[in-house]
Amino acid sequence: MKSRHIDLAFAATERSLSISQDETVLQVLIKHKIPIKHACLNGVCGVCLTPLLAGEIDYGQQQPRGLNQKELAQGYFLPCIARCQSDITIAEPKVKVR
Ligand code: FES
Repeated sequence: MKSRHIDLAFAATERSLSISQDETVLQVLIKHKIPIKHACLNGVCGVCLTPLLAGEIDYGQQQPRGLNQKELAQGYFLPCIARCQSDITIAEPKVKVR
């Protein structure tokens, strides 16, 4: 199975994580203990909102209902339902973990 990479473009944690085709971006971030808030895990609540700086993601059969038009236009995506179509680069998730 082909693996891709998630590049983290946050100042303090710049690094690259491997992701396989059957994993969501959120699963990989959690596995590597990258701080990201999450709740519904099905693209509805919008809590996991994260900026996608480069690359392509795919939501498969699921709909990113937690994302409004403005957030979409600003390049945000929902890692809880997103799988990588290419290597991607993300910025720090929008909602801070306290
Ligand atoms: S955790 Fe709810 S939209 Fe991602």
